[in-house]
Amino acid sequence: MAYTVQRLADYSEAALESAAGECIRACEGEAAAVRDEADLKDFRNRWLGRKNGILTQINDQWLKDAPKEAKREAGIRVNELKARINELVEAKKVGGDESGASAAERVDISLPGLHRPIGAEHPVVKTTNELVRIFQKLGYSVAEGPVIETDYYNFEALNFPPNHPARDTQDTLFIAGQQVKPPRERLLLRTHTSPVQIRTMEKMPPPLRIVIPGTVHRNDPPDASHSPMFHQIEGLCVDTNITFGDLKGTLDHAMKEFFGSSVKTSFRPSFFPFTEPSAEMYVSCFICGGSGRRGSDPCRPCKQTGWIEILGCGMVDPNVFEFVKDSGYDPKRVSGFAFGMGADRIALLKYGVDDIQLFFQGDVRFLRQWA
Ligand code: PHE
Repeated sequence: MAYTVQRLADYSEAALESAAGECIRACEGEAAAVRDEADLKDFRNRWLGRKNGILTQINDQWLKDAPKEAKREAGIRVNELKARINELVEAKKVGGDESGASAAERVDISLPGLHRPIGAEHPVVKTTNELVRIFQKLGYSVAEGPVIETDYYNFEALNFPPNHPARDTQDTLFIAGQQVKPPRERLLLRTHTSPVQIRTMEKMPPPLRIVIPGTVHRNDPPDASHSPMFHQIEGLCVDTNITFGDLKGTLDHAMKEFFGSSVKTSFRPSFFPFTEPSAEMYVSCFICGGSGRRGSDPCRPCKQTGWIEILGCGMVDPNVFEFVKDSGYDPKRVSGFAFGMGADRIALLKYGVDDIQLFFQGDVRFLRQWA
């Protein structure tokens, strides 16, 4: 039954209280039933309408008929009731306030804002970005390739013949169940970023200058200096008449940019199947300045030698160019150099971190130091 204003037979405090309560509950009930703008208009009109709205009726009926002694008390009561009804009607909105927000969503601009921590670059990513940037400034562009690689790109086209012992130097994680495929199509987790050298040469003719950042995997048990997943930055430069002098000049410049202009570089003979000749590049220890000592203590990062091994490099082996000869890399016409370094190892050295595992455990207390 819809609420109607009844005359009051009794103007006692209890009777006024109960009549006012009934009126408020009715208004609340009708407010809850309002669904759309049309409902809202009817609702307002029914309660606040000047001519015959419920408040007008209450004014007319309850006050007019009140016995003289009760007039004052009834007046106060009716005013309270009118204020409450006005409040209820005014607060009623269809589906929230004008902005469309419900009460729960409404923003209280007097409250302090939400604090959203912006995070920081991971030290390995930071190191990678800095090194990549140095080569970009020399005109290198960034190339990337898949982490799940075929035997062909990871080994064969890099001049590791099937069953060659050089494959043992990179303890490989193979994808299971590949025996049905021909050996060169079998999948593995790339052990280095070098396969992207081949992939890029297949697509882009010389001259070529690229840096290749990315993750690599090896079947090494984790310890303070090993992780089954780590990061490399590879470089490849191919053109006519590229010499070992270009290799040395480029890497020496890059190391001075990265570690500071006082570091020296040193190249020592090494072996990689895909470069000939090959070298390991050392930089003079940027911690002890090359002296091998820190005050009266021995310098640990360089093992007191004054030199730190940073990367492997060499002149691209002509056998590698044979695999991409049809893409414009005729070993009689072009030459090039390549290098590859471990971004994690360089980050460890640069920031004086003594355990590579710290980079991959995701402990914010550790990572916050780069924020
Ligand atoms: N791919 C080699 C490694 O992971 C590094 C390397 C890259 C060496 C390019 C020479 C040239 O050990």
